[in-house]
Amino acid sequence: MTNEEFSQLAAKPRHIGIIMDGNGRWAKKRALPRSVGHKFGARTFRAIAEYCIKLDIEVVTFFAFSTENWKRPKEEVDGIMQLFIEYLQDSFNRKGMQNMRVRFLGDRAPLSDEAKALMKNVEQETAEYKNQLNIAINYGSHDELVTAFNKLNGKKAEISAQDISEALYTHGQPDVDLLVRTGGEQRISNFLLWQSAYAELYFTDTLWPDFKEKDLDQALTFFAHRQRRFGAAE
Ligand code: IPE
Ligand code: IPE
Ligand code: MG
Repeated sequence: MTNEEFSQLAAKPRHIGIIMDGNGRWAKKRALPRSVGHKFGARTFRAIAEYCIKLDIEVVTFFAFSTENWKRPKEEVDGIMQLFIEYLQDSFNRKGMQNMRVRFLGDRAPLSDEAKALMKNVEQETAEYKNQLNIAINYGSHDELVTAFNKLNGKKAEISAQDISEALYTHGQPDVDLLVRTGGEQRISNFLLWQSAYAELYFTDTLWPDFKEKDLDQALTFFAHRQRRFGAAE
């Protein structure tokens, strides 16, 4: 949709979370290795991130790799990490990517030194931008909450909901308004559990490499038609 059409929607999400699922099945349907699915998935990620920038979405979070995804064959994990490094390396050469403040959600300790250095670089280089692009890598909500509780442990007699929000990777950002999952599964898979407490959920059978701007438009239109009550009557 055009920016004008977007601005005319009855309601707009401040924060969109996206579970990019279905790369493996996309490849399987074509008798290709799963790695090819991830490669095309990475292309979709770039295109949709740029579209979110164009629409001036305040925060968008992409789930790239979960704390549970280490269970996959080493070759597949290495391939995903390599795609991540390639994205970091050329993100500055792509104009669209320069206009968002990038933040990485997750425990980066097990990532390679090369990835860690690039991540730091990208975060520093984009620090001045207003709109935010979160990339969840080695991210799991349980891990995030355990880390947050340990950070808060012993610091205060009583911990508030705000203390917890501020100890999460998403500190300072609004909660998720719209959670999109591609690939047909209707589950959260340990993604932004705290932050999605009142998110509108949008599931589509479209496999992530096939997801286009018009598919995000459908999710945005769905969101605009929801009546959010947050527990109140009407
Ligand atoms: C999502 O696609 C990408 C990651 C989890 C890294 P999948 O690889 O899970 O694709 P399917 O679900 O097997 O089709
Ligand atoms: C969720 O997808 C994780 C990412 C998209 C990075 P999975 O494919 O790992 O989720 P499950 O295993 O189907 O729940
Ligand atoms: Mg999957």
